[in-house]
Amino acid sequence: MWLNRDIVSISDLNVEEIMEVIDRANKMLPYSSSGHPEKPLSDKIVATLFYEPSTRTRLSFEAAAMRLGARVLGFGALEGTSVSKGETLSDTIRIVNGYSDAIVLRHPSEGAARLASEFADVPVINAGDGAGQHPTQTILDIFTIWKESGPVSGKGIGFVGDLKYGRTVHSLSKALSLFDISLYFISPEELKIPKHIKKDIEKRVPVKETKNLDEVIEDIDVLYVTRIQKERFPDLEEYKKVAGIYVIRPSLLSRGRKNLIVMHPLPRVDEIPSEVDNLPQAKYFKQASYGVPVRMAILDLILRGD
Ligand code: CP
Repeated sequence: MWLNRDIVSISDLNVEEIMEVIDRANKMLPYSSSGHPEKPLSDKIVATLFYEPSTRTRLSFEAAAMRLGARVLGFGALEGTSVSKGETLSDTIRIVNGYSDAIVLRHPSEGAARLASEFADVPVINAGDGAGQHPTQTILDIFTIWKESGPVSGKGIGFVGDLKYGRTVHSLSKALSLFDISLYFISPEELKIPKHIKKDIEKRVPVKETKNLDEVIEDIDVLYVTRIQKERFPDLEEYKKVAGIYVIRPSLLSRGRKNLIVMHPLPRVDEIPSEVDNLPQAKYFKQASYGVPVRMAILDLILRGD
């Protein structure tokens, strides 16, 4: 069921499968800092091909592979690769398919991971495709909610910021709508969640959309903050209109629920000031650290299959 499986979209996984990864990630947690004593992937090579910048996803995938005994090859910038000479994605994938047992791909174009999966025999893991999906981030986000706030069901979960271009929001809100929750989408008009995603989610869970975070802060257990992604705006003037629109200050959090947690996929710019970092609500650095056990679980499942 898992062996050689592509992880392209979170919609390819059902709730039981997501929870299976989470359960395995919890078992991997003690080994995510010390290494797995059995080195179960010692005969495997994992390729990380990053056509867009990344700190957390690439390095946590590489750390996860190494903690399981696998070796890693790939690139984090196009300079020095034949992509800079014009090589197509499909050709690069065909080549790396012969050099590795799994390919982790980040690419600026939505649909790139699906395309790559059609050219590779080895499993392809989508590490973010433009404004599309980021499924392994979704699983680590659900793992964070589960570890830091308890069972997902019954919660009010709010997304604030760039809901239009934020692929982590797209993947995570879809996955969370499989649980018994309420969703709050907080954004300016220009950055609303895409209609097709909202329409799909609304079939399963109650959704409230607003521009005003103050209006809903008391109904929220998990506040998922996102960066306004300057690099995805076709027009810089449009970016300037919404830059800095939401800033999560301690005074706002003090009006929230007692067990409110604040998450962020990172990197952040100015939407969460550093004065929040030491508050009990701040879970975003913990969230980033969970990238290693969750990605260990995913690599173990797709490369060993049991
Ligand atoms: N959360 C996330 O995708 O971070 P990076 O862009 O640093 O990989």
